Amino acid sequence: MPANATNCALLPQELIRLKRDNQPLPAEEIKAFVQGIADDRISDAQIGAFTMAVFLNGMNREEVVALTTATRDSGHVMQWDSLNLSGPIVDKHSTGGVGDLVSLVLGPWVAACGAFVPMISGRGLGHTGGTLDKLESIPGYDPYPAPERFREVVKSTGVAIIGQTAALAPADKRIYGVRDVTATVESIPLITASILGKKLASGLDALVMDVKVGSGAFMPTPEKSRELAKSIANVATQAGTPTTALLTDMSQPLAPCAGNAVEIVETLALLRGERPNSRVMHVTRELAVEMLMAGKLVANREEALTKLEKALTSGAAAEVFARMVRELGGPSDFIERSEHYLPKAKVIKPVYAEQAGDAPQTVQRIDTRAVGMSVVELGGGRLRNDASIDHSVGFTDIVEIGESVEIGESVDSQRPIAIVHARSEAAAERAAEQLRAAFTMGEGAASADALIQDTFCGEAR
Ligand code: URA
Repeated sequence: MPANATNCALLPQELIRLKRDNQPLPAEEIKAFVQGIADDRISDAQIGAFTMAVFLNGMNREEVVALTTATRDSGHVMQWDSLNLSGPIVDKHSTGGVGDLVSLVLGPWVAACGAFVPMISGRGLGHTGGTLDKLESIPGYDPYPAPERFREVVKSTGVAIIGQTAALAPADKRIYGVRDVTATVESIPLITASILGKKLASGLDALVMDVKVGSGAFMPTPEKSRELAKSIANVATQAGTPTTALLTDMSQPLAPCAGNAVEIVETLALLRGERPNSRVMHVTRELAVEMLMAGKLVANREEALTKLEKALTSGAAAEVFARMVRELGGPSDFIERSEHYLPKAKVIKPVYAEQAGDAPQTVQRIDTRAVGMSVVELGGGRLRNDASIDHSVGFTDIVEIGESVEIGESVDSQRPIAIVHARSEAAAERAAEQLRAAFTMGEGAASADALIQDTFCGEAR
């Protein structure tokens, strides 16, 4: 077959021409084009021209649904029927953030309530942390089990958090790679199809999406975050997976820590029920409520909250996390002896805000993206795709917007804006400077944005 031949009626260049001229593309043509991408019959140049045409001219809902389902179907789509699971298969996906350890608590928590969660997670991307990187702080944890083992763990434990394999949505790997180098990442139709193409390949009954908004969000403006949330909820639902999207605040780190091992420490505290009213637990609880309702495990919000409370206070959620770690190769006494297993940084020291007058200073704003980039620079994230990371570094005890650090008469009365965990004194000093620059301090009160800013229930038209 010629290099650019496909099975569709249109030649690839004709399909590209249609989109270039702002014409809608038939679903069957999109499907054949995407299959040609997965089969390597479409060239990178053609993918680049196609994504630029979509970037410039957009797509209608039917086209995005077709692109999403074609991406999903370009590889293996998981089937769960033969396992006769006793509950629904549900999952959550987030656009990513800083101190966003939600998946680590949410998966075990909803599994303890009767759901099954086959969670395919990613590594850190740009300034955002990655669930897989955090889990790899745990010695022995295997994020790439054989597919059969993954299914067994989901069945026996209720949740397994693992990495993306090449078998799932292979067309997206090529499309994303080309978008990355052709200035076509920031397109709502392409982002929607890319995220959902991968996520829906895990054969879900329902999905809940956490779209972040604020200074640490992937999308550049609140309007764009909102547009993406609506697009994902509607497209996934129309593609056959009922989906709700929550718009949640990322104008400051969600948990009071950012890094890898330090976020596992916080996860264990949250699963033990230690900070039930923290910001991160508030967001996690709201997502959990949506998952239990979407999976029809409860009739309403009140029932969901009662079930979740019981799963947390009884220790059931923590036990599910412990079992998942054990089943995927981690220590069998991990949650009892996590201190013994998790790596610790060589240098751990407080970071103080600059002295700025005698009046008490309050956190007014946080450049959350800069906090995430500082974690990357400490070694907690990657500068290159293939680089290894240092799981021990990061920040803990990060103060929130509106909190006072009481700079004034005596240094003794000061509260640090965070504790830095670093490989060396020099790295700690540099991170401290970056953190101070990311915090805007000032006199007078300041309040954080609402944690849950909107909810979009997907509509299948
Ligand atoms: N994450 C993805 O998986 N795809 C995108 O296009 C953007 C973020």
